[in-house]
Amino acid sequence: MIGKVACFTLDNLFASFIAFNHGPSMFEVSSASHLPKAAHYEELVAQARALLADETDWIANAANFSSFVFHSLSDLNWAGFYFHDGRELVVGPFQGKPACVRIALGKGVCGTAAQTRKTQIVRDVHAFPGHIACDSASQSEIVVPLVAPDGTLIGVWDVDSPVLARFDEEDAKGMEALCAVFIEAALPRAS
Ligand code: SME
Repeated sequence: MIGKVACFTLDNLFASFIAFNHGPSMFEVSSASHLPKAAHYEELVAQARALLADETDWIANAANFSSFVFHSLSDLNWAGFYFHDGRELVVGPFQGKPACVRIALGKGVCGTAAQTRKTQIVRDVHAFPGHIACDSASQSEIVVPLVAPDGTLIGVWDVDSPVLARFDEEDAKGMEALCAVFIEAALPRAS
């Protein structure tokens, strides 16, 4: 039975399927890295939809979404949200080391994604003018702008990797599809 996540066990992180049960509820994350990248993302999108279903609390969904992506993809050292407070970006739920709290629109990779409303794929963070280093391990990065259907800037989804050129156009499409699932679940707050 598909239902709300009430319990998440690290032991089950790399099981081969996702499952939700009631009493006690449990969630298993598939790594499925044997699949071609696009197919893997399709699977993750379906799993994210199930993970966020039935829950409208956007902080809860943002926290679980961050953990889900962080533990589902290889070679990541940070995955999380920056939300727009009406003036600047403020860090939200994430996985990884403590991060910079506030980022102005137009600054760094996150502020650039927010200002341009275009996904930023950064193959080498050291070559990105104005990159904001929160974790010295980060070598590459992808940032997806989160925009509500009415055009309101919600924030950005930011993922870092310790591997150079970890992200490509397929990752961008996949991350954007995942973010669309989050935005749909967050709509009561965004509208
Ligand atoms: N590198 C980002 C800052 C956020 S951290 O990566 C978590 C940037 O340049 O905006």
